[in-house]
Amino acid sequence: MNDLPDKLQRKLDDRNASNALRKLGTQNGLVDFSSNDYLGFSKSEALFEATHHYLTENHFTQNGATGSRLLSGNHPLYAVLETMLSKFHDSEDALVFNSGYDANLGFFSCVPQRGDLIFYDEYSHASIRDGITMSNAKSYKFKHNDLDALKALVLRHSEFPSKSKQTTYIVTESIFSMDGDTPDLKAFADFCTRNNCHLIVDEAHAIGVFGEKGNGLVQELKMEQQPFARIATFGKAMGCHGAAILGSSSLKQYLINFSRSFIYTTALSPHALATIKSSYSELLKTSKIEKLHQNISFFKTEIERLQLERLFISSNSSIHCCVVSGNETIKEIAKKLKINGFDVKPILSPTVPKGQERLRFCLHSYNSEKEISEVLTLLSTFV
Ligand SMILES: Cc1ncc(COP(=O)(O)O)c(C=O)c1O
Repeated sequence: MNDLPDKLQRKLDDRNASNALRKLGTQNGLVDFSSNDYLGFSKSEALFEATHHYLTENHFTQNGATGSRLLSGNHPLYAVLETMLSKFHDSEDALVFNSGYDANLGFFSCVPQRGDLIFYDEYSHASIRDGITMSNAKSYKFKHNDLDALKALVLRHSEFPSKSKQTTYIVTESIFSMDGDTPDLKAFADFCTRNNCHLIVDEAHAIGVFGEKGNGLVQELKMEQQPFARIATFGKAMGCHGAAILGSSSLKQYLINFSRSFIYTTALSPHALATIKSSYSELLKTSKIEKLHQNISFFKTEIERLQLERLFISSNSSIHCCVVSGNETIKEIAKKLKINGFDVKPILSPTVPKGQERLRFCLHSYNSEKEISEVLTLLSTFV
């Protein structure tokens, strides 16, 4: 086999030298403060059984999709699922993608056109940024969660009087994946409405966590009619895989025709679709969302008790980050927590900006108060 070209080997060596080499880990039996499985759905046997039962009862015994959705892979379950999703999320329509990464890549690479403008939060997820890179529109990032900075940027770059052909897209997340915080979504949406901008909200970490039945933060704030599109993903609190873009039927039709990550890939298997359906049914019955929020409140009380607030980014979500500068330092703290039985992931630069390295605590409905107290007490001895 050929050796890795020198240039690539040097990049790996540089990563290693800055203590930031990424490695695949193995699943461990540690107390989970790291997965996105906020409600424990991924390990629910009841959910597994419900999916199996649904598939066999309906004689959906096919393993693979057999092709892309535009060719042979559009299993009847897609229509069932997309109808359910639009109802649950109070959206005119929904289009399922194979993952949140695919949904963002597919959306941003084909919706904003040459001559259009995209303004996106500087901490937007990589899938959003990658999609924007593929777009022909001009893009500008604004300071994290800062509406005033966004307003100034829009004012500076928009053409006045606005060219009728120029469309402006504003992109944010309801819960930021590396900070766990949230923008003033209402204010962002009102700004967009007043200025005829198209708002896109990635709800990856809000689905299953916020909203009356886990419908997401946009619905909790009763502003579901305002965004041009929402991205819901199923690999986090829903415990399975896939994503949907929620928006109008005409947006759906456009994406089916032009979104390359939708068109040129094998569709999800019927089993994957049935699992998403079962997870949504479970959301309607479960009391795990309340339990998750009790744990979030308890975690915050404990941070206060241990006087750790100065290190934590303020958050009401299931993601809580303790910022301690330096890849080496946080790797060392994570290692010590691991030795004591706790799985807390160090988030290194370049995933986050240098100096902003952090320990990212993901909270779940199944964490106990004892576990939360123990891990934070331990942390307080290391920082
Ligand atoms: C905000 C956000 N959007 C999109 C994604 C991608 O979703 P998926 O894991 O389904 O590809 C993630 C995943 O980490 C995310 O945090």
